[in-house]
Amino acid sequence: MKLKGLVLAGGEGTRLRPFTLSLPKHLIPLLGKAMIEYPIQHLVDSGIQDIGIIVGYLGHLIKEYLGDGSRYGAKFTYIKQEHRLGIAHAIHLAIENEFLNGPFVVYLGDNILAHGIEKFVRKFIDEQPDVYIMLCKVKDPSRFGVAILKEGRIVKLVEKPKEFISNMAMIGIYFFRDPELVEKAFSTLRPSWRGEYEITELIQWFIDHGYRVEYDIVRGWWKDVGTPEGLLEALYLLLDSIPARIEGEIQGEVMGRAIVEKGAIVKGKVYGPAYIGKGAVVSKDAVVEHYVSIEANSRILSGSITRSLILDNVTVDINGLRLIDSVIGRYSTIKCNKEIHGEMRLAVSDYSYVGL
Ligand code: DAU
Repeated sequence: MKLKGLVLAGGEGTRLRPFTLSLPKHLIPLLGKAMIEYPIQHLVDSGIQDIGIIVGYLGHLIKEYLGDGSRYGAKFTYIKQEHRLGIAHAIHLAIENEFLNGPFVVYLGDNILAHGIEKFVRKFIDEQPDVYIMLCKVKDPSRFGVAILKEGRIVKLVEKPKEFISNMAMIGIYFFRDPELVEKAFSTLRPSWRGEYEITELIQWFIDHGYRVEYDIVRGWWKDVGTPEGLLEALYLLLDSIPARIEGEIQGEVMGRAIVEKGAIVKGKVYGPAYIGKGAVVSKDAVVEHYVSIEANSRILSGSITRSLILDNVTVDINGLRLIDSVIGRYSTIKCNKEIHGEMRLAVSDYSYVGL
């Protein structure tokens, strides 16, 4: 059985504004890789090279960045979704334009899983259920699609339940065996209260019509990145799992587990877990504390930074100030004079200037 992949990268990322005003959320870098490259890498690592990518808002930037897929040992087909009409709608588009014509797996482009999907792909190929999904126990089920289980079977799926009905959230990875059945299910759907063709309702059709809908529970971490807090949480989880790798130049000190990429220079101090991207500079008066990523070509000239994501081409020159829990957009500059001390939390969009 040969599987195709479909990665969803439409949607405006409104909850991640201001960062998504100039960059689709799927291109926000985390440890030197755009968010969408994690799902793509997981598909390729599982032997899936024929990958469709659903694009909408700022889709041309995604296309420009990812190219034809050869860089990943894959072949990409871009499918434009004019309006954000739901996950089920995006899948329907990919079937309608004949990209999906056999078994396939859908991977939401803003979901990041710790251990990839290889073992799920293998199980789907071996057992060939009609639908196969992944569940994960969560604290805040009202943010997700959730599954009600009875005697080891899924009986009901509900999108963003207002009242508690289950703490088993659906992860953004869905396997389907037969696109014709998906189309049959889709033709029965109507837009929900939020104007979307819901993935929960699409799969509910398979349950209600007696098809084999299987699931597995994911135990490693999983994150869907929808908000700046979610972005930072994903960063912390990714940093927790990096192996140390120093390829840049260390003239100062690096303590603990850190990645320092080729072309990066550390003259000050870096405390791991931390990531210092290609061409980034940590100057002698700067301290990068735990859980920080300094993406490519950014320069930390002075001050300290903790639990923060500094996107690419940023300049931080903040003397006695300590930046905490912050996200700084691309090409921005943060400056602070020597008299100011203390901590500050910032969410600054691309191409901004902050002077204190
Ligand atoms: O992350 C898991 C959750 O993802 C599931 O538990 C929910 O059942 C599922 O509906 C989805 O919920 P969200 O509300 O978080 O989905 P979001 O709108 O963030 O979209 C998820 C991804 O799919 C994102 O990369 C954008 C893309 N997308 C979304 C829609 C609605 C599209 O490409 N087209 C669309 O029409």
